[in-house]
Amino acid sequence: MTERREAETEGASCRVFTFKDPRSPQESLSVCIPEVLDPQYGMYVWPSAVVLAQYVWFHREQLRGRAVLELGAGVSLPGVVAARCGADVILSDDANKPACLENCRRSCAANGLQDVSVRGLSWGEVSPDLLLLPRRDVVLGSDVFYDPEDFEDVLVTFVCLLRKNPEAQFWTTYQVRSADWSMEALLHRWGLSCVPVPLADFDADQSELAGSALPGSHSIQMMIVSRRTAD
Ligand SMILES: C[S@@+](CC[C@H](N)C(=O)[O-])C[C@H]1O[C@@H](n2cnc3c(N)ncnc32)[C@H](O)[C@@H]1O
Repeated sequence: MTERREAETEGASCRVFTFKDPRSPQESLSVCIPEVLDPQYGMYVWPSAVVLAQYVWFHREQLRGRAVLELGAGVSLPGVVAARCGADVILSDDANKPACLENCRRSCAANGLQDVSVRGLSWGEVSPDLLLLPRRDVVLGSDVFYDPEDFEDVLVTFVCLLRKNPEAQFWTTYQVRSADWSMEALLHRWGLSCVPVPLADFDADQSELAGSALPGSHSIQMMIVSRRTAD
């Protein structure tokens, strides 16, 4: 069971995640994520978020000083870990769900992150907010591929970000909920390619991560999406 602490915010309790590194036992990072008991998707940490946060932690040297955007961030565990590791982070969630945007802000406050900005970005909407975003190097998205109806919209949002930085990468984790789902055709349509990342490569092939049993027996996968280059 993950450690829980009373959060200052009414109605939220705080789940604590502690990331360690067997390669460097003196280093660790604890973050506190306020969660609200609510049926909406963006109010608590999803298992895929712990896996993506572990990837971020494992690659923290590479992320220091890099420009990061989290899409569909909800309570924002991966983005908070990236910010605590020294990345310049913007968090985003659906522009039409103020409660989810408030969660992003609450997670920042709980971790003393004053420089992280929160934006309403709805997938697939080429809004002024999306077009005005500064150049990003890495886009994070945990469990944003859960409804096939949204897959193309999520990818289109990433493609818009590629205009400012064609080398940007989309680091994403998802739960395998149906063997029938495939993104191959959409990736091809939008000039993208993807590389699966085995969980064992970043010590995430465990049912318990960062002191949390959330990953459990869920089938979670990680991939990196980027602009397709000539073969
Ligand atoms: C399954 S939850 C995952 C939340 C968080 N990333 C995590 O893994 O803990 C999906 C998230 O996507 C957001 N979302 C859903 N539809 C969206 C849309 N059309 N545009 C932007 N965000 C959306 C939800 O508000 C929610 O925060």
